[in-house]
Amino acid sequence: MTSPRHYLQFNDLSADEYAYLFKRTKWIKEKFKNYEPYHPLFDRTLVMIFEKASTRTRLSFEAGMQQLGGSAIYLNTRDSQLGRGEPVEDAAQVISRMSDVVMIRTFEQGIIERFAANSRVPLINGLTNEYHPCQILADIYTYIEHRGSIKGKTVAWVGDSNNMCNTWLQAAEVLDFNVHVSTPPGYEVEPERAGLYGTDHFEQFADPLEACKGAHLVTTDVWTSMGFEAENEARMKAFADWCVDAEMMSVAAPDAVFMHCLPAHRGEEVTAEVIDGPQSVVWDEAENRLHVQKALMEFLVLGRVGDEKAN
Ligand code: CP
Ligand code: NVA
Repeated sequence: MTSPRHYLQFNDLSADEYAYLFKRTKWIKEKFKNYEPYHPLFDRTLVMIFEKASTRTRLSFEAGMQQLGGSAIYLNTRDSQLGRGEPVEDAAQVISRMSDVVMIRTFEQGIIERFAANSRVPLINGLTNEYHPCQILADIYTYIEHRGSIKGKTVAWVGDSNNMCNTWLQAAEVLDFNVHVSTPPGYEVEPERAGLYGTDHFEQFADPLEACKGAHLVTTDVWTSMGFEAENEARMKAFADWCVDAEMMSVAAPDAVFMHCLPAHRGEEVTAEVIDGPQSVVWDEAENRLHVQKALMEFLVLGRVGDEKAN
């Protein structure tokens, strides 16, 4: 049995594979918009395991698999043996014998690594404490749709050095762009945790306004991620000056876009004026989760399916 390809971190795929996936996404999205059925995963089954809450990830994977001709099964910790201490290795053996692709949203990255090591089928990271690769896949696709190639561009990350920030930093290494990061003191990027090779593609800024200067894309995320709720009070104080506002957008490049993976808290990490303003592309960003993940599932399950279709 050959080992399946997994998508556990952004750098699990190469720049060449991302170029293929982005072309494929465009083709799949166009078919969907034209109401043309496309069922390459007919009769295939996706299992989705959620140990944390979700709206977009569940919806986009479940709808996406149905649109590709397959079906999706939802499991959560509360209603499955996963919540009662069944070893993740045993769960992986069983679940992967009954399905064609698995998506997990969980806590430590080590959990999905253990699952992957015991899985017969591709495993997709639907968010861990460390990474959120499917979201950055959608974000970069959205940037390309709006502004063209991201190569050589600058992304400003304002806020927590969380799973989203880590994944942006990895993506910058794979796709050769730069990330300006500004976090409050004590919440700085940990390059090792972010899985980086070096510091060539990012720069840290004490002042969020400085990080946004000249940026082509300004982005942020919640101050308190899922699983860190006990730190909420301290974070509300520490992050008070890391709210993306009109002043930050005004120093970015004139055609800069604003992104947020959602859910958002207006008045905390971003003002309503920015997220609901003309530079915001958050709804396209959310929708594109559906299209990029369809291309990703097709790639992981079937491999490249004819480059000519992707052009
Ligand atoms: N952005 C994102 O992953 O949203 P959900 O938590 O709703 O899945
Ligand atoms: N950083 C956030 C992203 C939610 C989609 C979290 O992990 O809760």
